Amino acid sequence: MTARVRLHVNVDHVATVRNARGTRYPDPVLAAGVCELAGADGITCHLREDRRHIVDDDVARLRAAVQTALNFECAATAEMRDLALGLRPEIVTLVPERREERTTEGGLDVAGQERALAPLVGALSAAGIAVSMFVAPVEAQLAASRRVGAHAVELHTGEYCHLSGAARDAELARLRAACEAAHGLGLRVAAGHGLTRHNVGPIAALPHMEELNIGHALVADALFSGLAGAVRDIRAAIDAR
Ligand code: PXP
Repeated sequence: MTARVRLHVNVDHVATVRNARGTRYPDPVLAAGVCELAGADGITCHLREDRRHIVDDDVARLRAAVQTALNFECAATAEMRDLALGLRPEIVTLVPERREERTTEGGLDVAGQERALAPLVGALSAAGIAVSMFVAPVEAQLAASRRVGAHAVELHTGEYCHLSGAARDAELARLRAACEAAHGLGLRVAAGHGLTRHNVGPIAALPHMEELNIGHALVADALFSGLAGAVRDIRAAIDAR
């Protein structure tokens, strides 16, 4: 039997909904607890430079509450390195970040920033934190990830999710080759971005795949699997007058 692929739930979008109204709900920390109860193997959050969804207080509360594994996604900056060293998540995933993007677009250019990334990865590793690089499924990025001392790579599945037909098959083949190459380099293999219950199967079946990070589609599905119950609950509250 093949090993179980771990599911890490990204709770950023719960914070997005909360921040849209400036309320204290829905709370991403409460969401993390529910996800863990339901079998999530880890909780992922991305503290963006502009704090557009998850904010510093969320990260501190997640650290205190998460009992599985906390995957802290952040840009490769000194500010985030220091925050991570104080926080001690189980995993730090380094991602590229641009203020104007809607979500993380493209992978981190590890090969182009080896000199800057190596000491950052070294500082996190020395603190006992596993470091993962969010990269495109490209051999040069995998080899560079290995050279800077990363423990793992998270392969960007955004392209695969946007494509269809033969183009999607070709991207899946590229992802498969990247899994083999990363494993051959001694890196652990994760994947994420754009995954849904309709497209996750072939990604979960890739060789050496250990972990998937899923956020947007899962929170979107939760709206519909929970909406009927939410209407019933409000109805009951109204009727209890
Ligand atoms: N992995 C990384 C590194 C990400 O930046 C994101 C998006 O924040 C995800 C996974 C989750 O992507 P999605 O929200 O599309 O499931």
